[in-house]
Amino acid sequence: MAGLFVTGTDTGVGKTVVACALAEALRRRRIDVGVMKPIETGVGAQGPLDAIALLEAAGVDDPLELVCPQRFELPAAPSIAAAREGRAVDLAAIRSAHAALRARHALMLVEGAGGLLVPIAHGHSMAELARDLGAPLLVVTRASLGTVNHTRLTLEAAQHRGLPVAGVVISHGPREISSADAANLEALREDLGDRLLGEIPPIAPGTSPPREAFRLDAILERALRPS
Ligand SMILES: Nc1ncnc2c1ncn2[C@@H]1O[C@H](COP(=O)(O)OP(=O)(O)OP(=O)(O)O)[C@@H](O)[C@H]1O
Ligand SMILES: [Mg+2]
Repeated sequence: MAGLFVTGTDTGVGKTVVACALAEALRRRRIDVGVMKPIETGVGAQGPLDAIALLEAAGVDDPLELVCPQRFELPAAPSIAAAREGRAVDLAAIRSAHAALRARHALMLVEGAGGLLVPIAHGHSMAELARDLGAPLLVVTRASLGTVNHTRLTLEAAQHRGLPVAGVVISHGPREISSADAANLEALREDLGDRLLGEIPPIAPGTSPPREAFRLDAILERALRPS
C-alpha cells in the first residue's frame, strides 16, 4: 500500500481541490507523487478536467490515457453514464493503468468519482474500486450543515466493508460558513479527533491552501503504512 484513494461524502465536496493541494504539498517535500482519476464523467470537448488538474498539480508527465482511462460524457454516476453510451466501465483497463503508474511513482493519489457507494458496474461501487487498488481512503467532507451525518455515514460504510481509512479532510468550499455551520463544524472536528488530517479554508480559484492546512506527516505515515 503506497497511496490514498480520495473519496468524498458527496459529489462536489472538494475532492479535486484537496487532492491537488495534497499533491502540491507532497511535491514540496520532494515526494514523487502520481495521480489518477480512473473514471471521469461529464467529460466534454475540453477533456477530463479533474484528471488534467491532478496532472498539473503533481507536475508529472504521465499520459492522460493512463491517468484517466475511463471517460464518459454524461455528468452522472459511472455505471449510468457508461450505459448511456452503450458501454460498461472497463475495470481491467483501470487496474492495468493503475499498476503502470504505481510502478513509476513513490506514492499514488487516486480520486474517485462522487461518493463511496456510487455505482460503477454490477456489484461494484467506488468502495470495491478502492479495495481493488489497495489504497486506504482519504474522505473529503464539507464544512456546512449536514456534514456530521454524511461523514459518519461514509466512515460507517467503509468500516462495514473492512476498508482502511487514513482519515478525513474538511473542505470549506468557496464561501465563508455561517456561525451555525461553524458550531456544527466544531462538533465534527471533535467527533473525528485524530482522524482529522486537514482542513482547507475557502481559497481563491487557482491558489493553494496554507501549508498548515494538512497534517502532512500523519498523512504520509498512513499512506505509506503497509496493510
Ligand atoms: N476549500 C475550497 N475553497 C474554494 N473553493 C472550493 C474549495 N473546495 C472546493 N471548492 C470548489 O467547489 C467546487 C467543487 O470542488 P471539487 O471540484 O474539488 O469537488 P469534487 O468532490 O472533486 O467534485 P466531483 O465529484 O465532481 O469530482 C469547485 O468549484 C471548487 O473550486
Ligand atoms: Mg473532482
